Amino acid sequence: MTVAFVAGATGFTGKALVALLRERGTPAVAHVRPDSRDLQHWQALFAGQGAQVDTAPWQLEAMTQTLKARGVTHVFCCVGTTQARMKAHGAAQNSYEAVDYALPKLLAQAAAAAGVQRFVYLSSLGAGPNAKGAYLQWRYKAEQAVQAAGVPFTIARPSIITGQRDQPRVAEAVAGKVLDGALGLLGMLGATTLHNRYKSTSDARLAAALLRLALDPALVGQVVLSEDLGE
Ligand SMILES: NC(=O)c1ccc[n+]([C@@H]2O[C@H](COP(=O)([O-])OP(=O)(O)OC[C@H]3O[C@@H](n4cnc5c(N)ncnc54)[C@H](OP(=O)(O)O)[C@@H]3O)[C@@H](O)[C@H]2O)c1
Repeated sequence: MTVAFVAGATGFTGKALVALLRERGTPAVAHVRPDSRDLQHWQALFAGQGAQVDTAPWQLEAMTQTLKARGVTHVFCCVGTTQARMKAHGAAQNSYEAVDYALPKLLAQAAAAAGVQRFVYLSSLGAGPNAKGAYLQWRYKAEQAVQAAGVPFTIARPSIITGQRDQPRVAEAVAGKVLDGALGLLGMLGATTLHNRYKSTSDARLAAALLRLALDPALVGQVVLSEDLGE
């Protein structure tokens, strides 16, 4: 039986993934950080969907124990910070290194120690050793850490994620529209590979893709690019 654990369950993609898992009747554990300001809200929301809520601290031993105790078979890592979070809640605790790199690394190591069947890491298109910008470089380092952890993994690299967020991100929505418009034109001109790679996705489409990746035995050890994340 599949038992899914979603880290970053309170985020745009993680929330859609927990909802999808429960719609399909899959046992799901929604991880909410213990210091969440909205813990009661998340507990009520996820309990209403029939998901369990887990507030294990981000520590290797605690995460390993909680994955074991809950019989988790599949872990989805959907955590990540933003420049806005760094400005609002402190640059050091919310840096790309502290969140986008350190948390997936810790969780992958815990998943390996707990004998989890699959670890799906939500990375980003453009991640690479020579990528432009700290965000994509730390994403790549996180991918490397996931691969080194010793757990069967699959890494997803989506393009921009758009849709109705609880707290709208104007720049992201505009970027998605502009990008899709330009790519639509390129698609008409025959540049379909470019179009398929960079076109935006939605939280629900991405959640469905992550679930499909997790259950496909052929995708162990694979990095899946945005154009292969579609239905
Ligand atoms: N948005 C895009 O266009 C896009 C494109 C490609 C890839 N991605 C990547 O995909 C991932 C998911 O994106 P998203 O838009 O769904 O993210 P999101 O809505 O910003 O959610 C981020 C999640 O990470 C958690 N988190 C952030 N800082 C944390 C910290 N210091 N400690 C523990 N948890 C923390 C948040 O928890 P709280 O709610 O408790 O803060 C939340 O659950 C991100 O990592 C992002 O980099 C995003």
